Amino acid sequence: MNTETDSSMKKKDVTILAIESSCDETAASVVRNGREVLSNIISSQIDLHKLYGGVVPEIASRKHIEKINQVIEEALSEAGMTLDDMDAVAVTYGPGLVGALLVGVAEAKAISYAKHLPLVGVHHIEGHISANYIENRDLEPPFICLVVSGGHTHLVRVKDYGEYEILGRTRDDAAGEAFDKVARAIGLGYPGGPKIDRLAKEGNPDAIAFPKARIADAPYDFSFSGLKSAVLNYLNGCKMKGEPIVEADVAASFQKAVVDVLIEHAMLAVRESGLDRFALAGGVASNTALRAAAEAACRERGIRFYRPSPIFCTDNAAMIGAAAYYEYKKGVRHGLDLNAVPNLKLGERYPGEAAGK
Ligand code: KG4
Ligand code: ZN
Repeated sequence: MNTETDSSMKKKDVTILAIESSCDETAASVVRNGREVLSNIISSQIDLHKLYGGVVPEIASRKHIEKINQVIEEALSEAGMTLDDMDAVAVTYGPGLVGALLVGVAEAKAISYAKHLPLVGVHHIEGHISANYIENRDLEPPFICLVVSGGHTHLVRVKDYGEYEILGRTRDDAAGEAFDKVARAIGLGYPGGPKIDRLAKEGNPDAIAFPKARIADAPYDFSFSGLKSAVLNYLNGCKMKGEPIVEADVAASFQKAVVDVLIEHAMLAVRESGLDRFALAGGVASNTALRAAAEAACRERGIRFYRPSPIFCTDNAAMIGAAAYYEYKKGVRHGLDLNAVPNLKLGERYPGEAAGK
């Protein structure tokens, strides 16, 4: 269904209300022209889920439904706007937890229907990649992007806005998942990434030689489950031998093993692509060691390095608004039949979606 009016197409500025609820953050944001964030409201459920050591899907859905209207109201009021000022409503429709996604999708559809606003469904990973556009006005495709989050580890060639080629991906655990599991094993709690990041600063990254997996014939793919097992074996070995465990050294050495592999594969992709721009994205992109290593590797090679501020690395709706703007400009519109797609692939199009009108 196309609810657009001619006048909205002629307007110079495009202001989008974006909604994100794919995991444990209920978020809404108002974004102008894909790059200017007028508000960015994030209601995190972390305190609730950490009692269980990870995200409990049903609790996540219940919390989203409780918070979503309040978060949207705050996003509009912080932007000094109402729904009448919006040109479109955008929402993450996959991948993610189905019950969590459904809350955002139903909300966006209700707003689209009530206010006759065009609806733009957004891929969560496309959102993470697009977070780079917010603070880097000069960044335009093509570039190579390493997306590292709790659920995904993808090395992507961003060919154009909304056009992606996946060069490599993890064969097992995502990078963030490995951080979370190792953090749990050394007793740091959930979410593990930021805690390992902090603790690693006090440790020696060369104290323990953890394995760095490479996959034969797939130089851009990753595997982190062997590394995770190596850390668990190391911890068990110390306990059995009665040797003390220096947690900061474990954290620093594990982090180094992850960062080295990520950067090595990413720089190979940059070199072979012939492109001169590289970006980080996703929750793990806020890791200080990864940011420093990526920056150094790019500087050495004369490559321009981009990364979002930490607040735009972890889940937020501003990144969804940034991605939605480019989809909107291409004419992508979704109907009121839009549903959550928990396993949505990057670049996959929704059946019946309108494009290029
Ligand atoms: O992108 P995100 O917010 O959610 C997903 O789409 O998955 O990523 C969350 C992941 C978690 O695994 C968390 O531990 C990790 O990002 N993370 C970090 C850091 N901050 C968040 N990992 C390493 N270092 C950090 N500073
Ligand atoms: Zn995410």
